[in-house]
Amino acid sequence: MAIDILIAGRLPPNVLPQLEKRFRLHQLPEERNEAGAFLQQVGGSIRGMLTNAAQGAPEQLLSALPKLEIISSSGVGTDALNMDIAEARGISVRTTPGVLTEDVADGAIALMLATSRRLMQAERNVRAGRWLKDLPLGNRMTGKRLGILGLGKIGQALAKRAAAFDMPIAYHQRNRNPDVPYAYHDSVVSLAEASDFLVVIVPGGPATENMVDGKVFDALGPEGILVNVGRGSTVDQPELIRALEQGRIRAAGLDVLADEPHVPDALLELENVVLTPHYASGTTETRLAMGQRVVDNLLEYFEAELQGAD
Ligand code: DGY
Repeated sequence: MAIDILIAGRLPPNVLPQLEKRFRLHQLPEERNEAGAFLQQVGGSIRGMLTNAAQGAPEQLLSALPKLEIISSSGVGTDALNMDIAEARGISVRTTPGVLTEDVADGAIALMLATSRRLMQAERNVRAGRWLKDLPLGNRMTGKRLGILGLGKIGQALAKRAAAFDMPIAYHQRNRNPDVPYAYHDSVVSLAEASDFLVVIVPGGPATENMVDGKVFDALGPEGILVNVGRGSTVDQPELIRALEQGRIRAAGLDVLADEPHVPDALLELENVVLTPHYASGTTETRLAMGQRVVDNLLEYFEAELQGAD
C-alpha cells in the first residue's frame, strides 16, 4: 500500500523525483483557507511529513494528521515543531544537523562586515547616483572583540573565521565548554560588556526567549553591533528597535526576526540595520544537502516497509 507523505513548504527540485518513486505525495497549499479543506480530505491518511525550520509543525497541523509517524524537517531548529505533541504521540522527529554549519558561520561574517562597513548604505548611495557623497565611514572589524551567544557547532565555525580577523573571542551559553580556548562569561550582559560584536546563534524556544534585552544593548554600548543568525525570539525586538533608534547600539544585522515573515516598518526605516530573510544557510550547496538529508531521513524511517514493497 502506498505511503502518504505531506510536503509542507518547498523542497529543492533535485529531491522530488526520489520521493515520487517511493511515496504518494501531497503538497500542502500555501493559502490557509485551501489548506484546511485539503487537510480534511487527505490528513487522515498522512504517515510522514516533510517540513522545514520556518514552516514547522504547529499543533493545528499535527491535529489534522492523526496517523502521522515521522516529521522530517529541513534545518536544525526544532522551535517551530511542536515537540510536546510529537513526544506524546510517539512521532519520530528528524532534522538535518551538520550540513549548514559552515554557511551559517559565513552568513554571520557577512552580516558583521555589512554592518560594520556600512556596505548596504554605500551600495544604496551608489545606486542613487551619490558616489561617496554624504556617506559616513565604516568601522574596522579586524581586532575587534567578538562575543558569541551559543558556542555550538556554528558558533565554533564562526570563532575559527573570526580568529583570521585577529578578533579576541568570548562566549556565553548555559555551561562552560572546557574544550575551547575562548573566554567564558556567565551572563549575556557580561558577554555584551566585553564585546564589540555580539552574535546570537542560540536555538529559539522558551528557554532563550528575549534573552537579548535592553540591559544587553546598554552593555554592548553605542559602538556595539548585534548580529542574529539564530532565532528572532531570542531578541526583544521592540527594545532592539528603540536601542537602534536612540543610538544605544550602532547597528544590527538580522537574518531572523521575531514574527517571520513580518518585517516591522520601524526596522525598514532604519539605516543602521541590514536585513536578510532567514537566509544564512541559503546557498545552493547547503540547500541541496538539506533537501537530500530530509529525504534520506524519511527513506530510512520507512526502509523496511519500502523493501517489502519492492
Ligand atoms: C535551522 O536549521 O534551524 C536554520 O535556521 C534553517 O535555515
